[in-house]
Amino acid sequence: MKIFIDTANVEYIREVNSWGILDGVTTNPTLCAMEGREFCSVIEEIAEIVNGPISAEVISLDREEMIKEAREYARIAGNVIIKIPITSEGLAATKVVSSEGIKVNMTLVFSVNQALLAAQAGAFYVSIFLGRLDDIGHDGIPILSDVISAYENYGISTEVIAASIRHPIHVTEAALVGADIATIPYKVIQAMVKHPLTDSGISRFLEDWDKLKEIVQK
Ligand code: E4P
Repeated sequence: MKIFIDTANVEYIREVNSWGILDGVTTNPTLCAMEGREFCSVIEEIAEIVNGPISAEVISLDREEMIKEAREYARIAGNVIIKIPITSEGLAATKVVSSEGIKVNMTLVFSVNQALLAAQAGAFYVSIFLGRLDDIGHDGIPILSDVISAYENYGISTEVIAASIRHPIHVTEAALVGADIATIPYKVIQAMVKHPLTDSGISRFLEDWDKLKEIVQK
């Protein structure tokens, strides 16, 4: 499973990218607003750090405006992917821009039917929002799993992104059902690194090493 970071914070991106484990980045208007910086310059800076796909989301609701935004963002860098919400206007815009070679990440997808339509319109990625489904009392993982099965039934090549990830268990479950990608907030990526037995194991090894040094010096 590929690992994307779900943030517009360049420091977080720089740090996780330096670990050598990052395949791409997703942003959304909320994440960009949190940074309080001009949108295109943020995307431009991210593109200087990361070679993999970087999703930038349109904010228009009308197809012609979405197409205009998509073309503008796609010009920022060759690895910019356009995030378009699943609406009838979004599908129409996706059909047009994907036929021009602009890759689309269809976002805010919560059902198999929406995912089928996204693929039909030519979306390169589809983002299934796990946490937001959980928030309203639906388990997101079976929906993610169903989307993957439905795509497999028809050999659909649209890549499935597990999005709206809130904790490390979401990542594990997404991997177990075969998501192509998980896009993960910085805090959750940090939590994935950690295990109490790793920490205590390191402390124990260092203590024993110090003991050995004392013995050898005597
Ligand atoms: C996906 O690409 C979205 O940016 C993101 O995962 C949304 O997560 P949230 O539901 O925690 O806001």
